[in-house]
Amino acid sequence: MTQTFLVTGAAGFIGSHSVEGLLGRGLRVVGVDNLRTGHLENLAAARASPDFEWVQADAGDEAVMRPLFQRHQFAGALHLAALVSVPESFREPALNYRLNLATADALARLCLEFDCKRLVFASSAAVYGATATPPNRESVMPQPQSPYAAAKLAAEVMLLGYAASYGLEAVCLRYFNVYGPRQDPASPYSGVLSIFTDRFRRGLPVTVYGDGEQTRDFISVRDVARANGEALTRPGVVSGRYNVCTGRAVSLNQVLALYRELFPQAPPAEHAAARIGDIQHSLGDPDLLRRMLAFEAEVPFAQGLRELARWV
Ligand code: UD1
Repeated sequence: MTQTFLVTGAAGFIGSHSVEGLLGRGLRVVGVDNLRTGHLENLAAARASPDFEWVQADAGDEAVMRPLFQRHQFAGALHLAALVSVPESFREPALNYRLNLATADALARLCLEFDCKRLVFASSAAVYGATATPPNRESVMPQPQSPYAAAKLAAEVMLLGYAASYGLEAVCLRYFNVYGPRQDPASPYSGVLSIFTDRFRRGLPVTVYGDGEQTRDFISVRDVARANGEALTRPGVVSGRYNVCTGRAVSLNQVLALYRELFPQAPPAEHAAARIGDIQHSLGDPDLLRRMLAFEAEVPFAQGLRELARWV
């Protein structure tokens, strides 16, 4: 019998790519999203598949989720639904608590009740905070600097507690800076590559905060979707927290040099003061995930950027 998987946050940037990846492997998927920040257009391809069931609902709404678990006997759940904006988590801490912690806890308990063996949880490199020295390994003490990061870390702790107590397979994936098609450039706090690509395409100058020498571990959403699929389906996965990153640092100035090749007519970048609280260097160590899932990020940065520019 074909296995069925639950994906929450299915209409989001990472969710929609993950759904397509699972469907592409011949698996059945039930996708849940409340469309708070997700977009139904992202699921156009998925919704054309007979193996996909679309449910518009809040992943924390037990009245909807319980019957879904009852009906489908999920082989695994990928929990991506979240309040995704760090600044919003400062403004709305109660909402952040509900969407980023309480919902993960409720889903984990449904997994236990209905024998859904594995829960893959979207955590974030934000849990490391500003103080750790890169490259970040999973063993360092996290120091969340925002309600968002605190809730992500607390959810990891809850899920790993259930893993130890009841044998749930809890895989907490700490995503670094994910980029690619369908990332929304609308907010000033959107991922820098989605903002830059959108502005270059429209012939507008981009703003670089600081000297541009800050570095990030940018990972393509295609790689992230593949990591999610592996974490969800691979046998013998050990509960724990895992970086999802490339292990390679790219500076904004290097990013700009690549953009100059893609958009030779673009106006020069403008500079502004560094953002308050900005981290200078963020880099992950991919070794643990490599050992557990044999996962290696494959999309070279320059190629991923070209794909993003073409999509826009
Ligand atoms: C990420 C989160 C952010 C969180 C932080 C802490 C995303 C999209 N953002 O930020 O919410 O607070 O981790 O872990 O995942 N930049 C520019 N010009 C722009 C936009 C950004 O120069 O128009 C710079 C930023 O100042 C930063 C770098 O680009 O130095 C990357 O910014 P961003 O994509 O927002 O990611 P993080 O700073 O890593």
